[in-house]
Amino acid sequence: IVDVKGGPNEGLDRVGLMIVVAGWVRTLRAQSSVTFIEVNDGSCLSNMQCVMTSDAEGYDQVKSGLITTGASIWIQGNVVPSQGSKQKVELKVNKIVLVGKSDPSYPIQKKRVSREFLRTKAHLRPRTNTFGAVARVRNALAYATHKFFQENGFIWISSPIITASDCEGAGEQFCVTTLIPSSREAAESPVDAIPKTKDGLIDWSQVYTFGPTFRAENSNTSRHLAEFWMIEPELAFADLKDDMACATAYLQYVVRYILDNCKEDMDFFNTWIEKGIIDRLSTVAERDFVQLSYTDAIELLIKAKKKFEFLVKWGCDLQSEHERYLTEEAFGGCPVIVSDYPKEIKAFYMRQNDDGRTVAAMDMLVPRIGELIGGSQREERLEYLEGRLDELKLNRDSYWWYLDLRHYGSVPHAGFGLGFERLVQFATGVENIRDAIPFPRTPGSVEF
Ligand code: 4AD
Ligand code: MG
Repeated sequence: IVDVKGGPNEGLDRVGLMIVVAGWVRTLRAQSSVTFIEVNDGSCLSNMQCVMTSDAEGYDQVKSGLITTGASIWIQGNVVPSQGSKQKVELKVNKIVLVGKSDPSYPIQKKRVSREFLRTKAHLRPRTNTFGAVARVRNALAYATHKFFQENGFIWISSPIITASDCEGAGEQFCVTTLIPSSREAAESPVDAIPKTKDGLIDWSQVYTFGPTFRAENSNTSRHLAEFWMIEPELAFADLKDDMACATAYLQYVVRYILDNCKEDMDFFNTWIEKGIIDRLSTVAERDFVQLSYTDAIELLIKAKKKFEFLVKWGCDLQSEHERYLTEEAFGGCPVIVSDYPKEIKAFYMRQNDDGRTVAAMDMLVPRIGELIGGSQREERLEYLEGRLDELKLNRDSYWWYLDLRHYGSVPHAGFGLGFERLVQFATGVENIRDAIPFPRTPGSVEF
């Protein structure tokens, strides 16, 4: 259907062609002399309106009521200009074949059903407009992610999922042995190990991972999953500023990509899911992001005339309400990069700043979501890293290979992690992260 209706003039250039559409019945309307069937094949938001009279082969199956909403069908017909105002072209049916009939209990009828209800039907929900569009935009974001990194000389590496180490030092991992809560270590090691080649032919000094990660944190919120996908680039010979620049360029690239390539789906979100999302994303793709230190952010929050649920003082972790205030209210919807957090609230591997109390960390905050990206410059100095492990009473032996990388040709390097489902939320406007992934896994819910 996208091949026909996505073309110039919404299919008018295809008039006269005989085509076959294989898909699922969205609606069926039988009038005395003609029957209208709206078919969708998942390739785009548009349905193909198929118009059928009694001379079409297979008409008896329509007449007898065998073909209903949800049934899968195969239709052959001619593309003709449409009489209706909703579409430019329709299909004049020559032949219809019922492939699989749909039981009358089919839960996705024409009336609008709630997202909560659809979560219990995750295997069927891609057949709705919203979830079909989310799936296509998610796919486009994944494609644009690889495109961005590949075009910029990054190597995609496969990182393991089963590991023995708590690589974030945060204790939120599942114990199997352990399912990876972040692939940062795997991404860091080739960066550490392989120096940049000067001829620029193979630039192994930049790598990224893109894969599933797991966290056992028990946060039942609209932005946490137990299984989520993360994109983690790692850059050698790079500092925190390079890291921020890469994160900004990446986000702007993928946002621009979907605005340019997913017009129909983005218009749908703009109308039905979040009014104004296209304008909001267009601005994000163009403007400079705000950058401020954690210390300045805390000062701003203390001075804010807003009553927060969680008290703000230097040293506290920013809560979602604080993050959203910064990006949505203090800076009018512009993404904000907060840097140089207190070392106590950040991971052991982040590079210590000269002040002795902060580390070279950065979080990118965006409207509606809060934290989209978390990253840092890594501690490349062996003595500092060992010192920090000791301070935190983490066992040096468990990190032997990570320390090894500092023994042999250590370089300044930095990276970040972006939660892919939060990006999908940000880009589509869906409110709950459970609607940004086909089969959401949250604490206590692994139904299928
Ligand atoms: O800030 P986080 O915990 O950072 C790391 O894991 C680093 N190792 C990344 C790195 O430097 N390579 O997680 C990164 C991002 C967050 O900003 C958030 O977008 C997402 O991952 N995230 C989650 N998304 C969904 N559900 C969860 N439970 C998430 N936890 C983190
Ligand atoms: Mg974080």
